[in-house]
Amino acid sequence: MRIGEPRAARRLTDPAYLRYQYADDERLRVRIETHRRYSENPASFTDWVLARLAVTAGDRVLDVGSGPGGYHAGLSRARLIAIDLSAGMLANVGVPRAQADAQALPFRDASFDRVLCAHVLVHVPDIPHALHEMRRVVRRGGRAVIVTNSRATMRPLFDMQNAIAVELGIAEESSVAARFGLEDVDVVREVFPTARVDVYEDAFRFAAAEPVLAYVSSTFVGLLPADTRAAYLGRLARRVEAVIAREGVFRVPKRSGCFVADV
Ligand SMILES: C[S@@+](CC[C@H](N)C(=O)[O-])C[C@H]1O[C@@H](n2cnc3c(N)ncnc32)[C@H](O)[C@@H]1O
Repeated sequence: MRIGEPRAARRLTDPAYLRYQYADDERLRVRIETHRRYSENPASFTDWVLARLAVTAGDRVLDVGSGPGGYHAGLSRARLIAIDLSAGMLANVGVPRAQADAQALPFRDASFDRVLCAHVLVHVPDIPHALHEMRRVVRRGGRAVIVTNSRATMRPLFDMQNAIAVELGIAEESSVAARFGLEDVDVVREVFPTARVDVYEDAFRFAAAEPVLAYVSSTFVGLLPADTRAAYLGRLARRVEAVIAREGVFRVPKRSGCFVADV
């Protein structure tokens, strides 16, 4: 943690916040389900990522920070191992798994054909070190795919949330890529010189406020004192409903993607 780092960035690596978010998969599943139900891009993001991982039968694949294993159904032909810092996240993962830190992978050098690391590095205190660890365990000729969001993602929602936070005097900023985003290609290329950036454009389309409130409640907002949280969500509901009344839909552009790094 660096002095002067924005609060949203500090929260992303705060152990207490990580326990709240990831002790089990309940909150993450709310967001995964929101993406599944309310995204306008008909192409599945999971399939888009897996196409870039380009696994062939029998490949040794490591999923770093696997969470509940959202990519695993598409990797059934691989010899897959999942690691995550949270034992609770791994509870229902049906492939060989280990509780481990992305900054200290418990594997020998060059022991994997492919490494996947999806939406994890924002939470890792020493991102370059985790990148070096991934580089270390990929064999020559192998590939790492590192998935993250753009700092530009979900702006209409985050702008609304940040305005509400100011109104209520809450020193919390909304952002999902404050520490690591698609813009950080230079950080990745320090370790994987050939890394390229592939971008996946999408948008949420909300015709009612309820799924927006569920999504937001699964973030730091769920930790606010009950009366502040109620005020926050009430204000958010009114703003979202006003957009829907005016425009028919609350559309929230999303930009995410991955670094594809051949070794
Ligand atoms: C947003 S979830 C992503 C889960 C999964 N990769 C996906 O895309 O659905 C972030 C995951 O990273 C894990 N995580 C956070 N810090 C980690 C670390 N230092 N090492 C390994 N996993 C970590 C969390 O426990 C959580 O399961």
